[in-house]
Amino acid sequence: MKALVLAGGKGTRLRPLTHTMPKQLVPVANEPILGYVFHHIQDAGIKEVGVVVSPETGNDVRRFLGRGSRWQMRITYIPQQQPLGLAHAVKIARPFLGNSPFVMYLGDNLLAQGIKEFMEEFHSTTLDALIFLKEVDNPQAFGVAVLNKKGQIIKLVEKPKDPPSNLALVGVYFFSASIHEAIDRISPSARGELEITDAIQELMRSGGSVSGQILDDWWLDTGKKDDFLAANTVVLDDYIKRDVQGKVDIKSKVSGRVQIEKTARIVNSSLRGPVVIGKRCKIVNSFIGPYTTIGHGTRIINSAIEHSVILDKCYIENIARLDDSLIGREARVIHYDKNHSRALRLLIGDNNVVEV
Ligand code: DAU
Repeated sequence: MKALVLAGGKGTRLRPLTHTMPKQLVPVANEPILGYVFHHIQDAGIKEVGVVVSPETGNDVRRFLGRGSRWQMRITYIPQQQPLGLAHAVKIARPFLGNSPFVMYLGDNLLAQGIKEFMEEFHSTTLDALIFLKEVDNPQAFGVAVLNKKGQIIKLVEKPKDPPSNLALVGVYFFSASIHEAIDRISPSARGELEITDAIQELMRSGGSVSGQILDDWWLDTGKKDDFLAANTVVLDDYIKRDVQGKVDIKSKVSGRVQIEKTARIVNSSLRGPVVIGKRCKIVNSFIGPYTTIGHGTRIINSAIEHSVILDKCYIENIARLDDSLIGREARVIHYDKNHSRALRLLIGDNNVVEV
């Protein structure tokens, strides 16, 4: 079994942040999405992984993944000159995939339960494709499946204007080598892409066996979400275990599922999980409340923060209460009066300075 990770496409602007980065590298709870994807693939025991990369963002992706030794894998990079579709990505990966069955994992997708059990299930059958479905509120933005009364797939359509159901295709697919012939028989869609949805539909038409399973647990297509905070909350809820490695002085209190990196320092502060504190952070005379991620190298002084994402290298001082906020990289939020009491809710882009 091999894995094919799609990390191509163009860089995306993380509204409201100004920083442009590959959407697969957007950090959630201080770990880029691709890190979770690779963790899931590793957990399934897959050793050979092809990664589709684009000219625009390929270098950033390569810098993060390296050769794959962090996950004990061998990575083969597959450059795709233009984002001509998910099935096009499979087509150009054919020399890497050979006749092996494989799992295709979209690099901006995240599944609660990983893929290990699904892989075992796929192995135990003779299916040509195993796909996953999830009810969504905006099926127009996804591939959509129609099931019959027995729960079998009867039709698949990509981004329908008038969706025949609200069951979206999730960005993880298990395929046998027969998907390649189906891809050879399809043509680009109206938007000019070779759609994997059309290839699976073609596989079914030509007698291939395709099964769809409805996911009970959460799934995030982070490429679609402007909402960092929502992704952060879900991941903190499910993935974070207590792991206090940084220096916590005796005046500080750390309760619940709090993760503190080795090089972080906590001084006279109270932390209540789920919370993630990045490398080289310094938290002084402050309260960090549930559902908060503090990025690497950030300093928080005399402040209280809850349900917020503060990205790397920020400086926050004398903020009595910061809630539901998203603070971009290297931003500074400062109040010069130590005795203020106003609660704030802020959305601040990278490199901004805000004095309140
Ligand atoms: O997230 C699930 C959805 O993913 C499915 O419901 C849709 O059926 C499927 O087409 C796909 O839709 P998206 O609009 O979300 O696909 P997107 O263009 O965002 O690409 C998904 C990932 O694949 C992303 O990490 C970029 C990468 N990619 C995309 C294209 C089109 C490539 O590496 N090469 C490509 O040519």
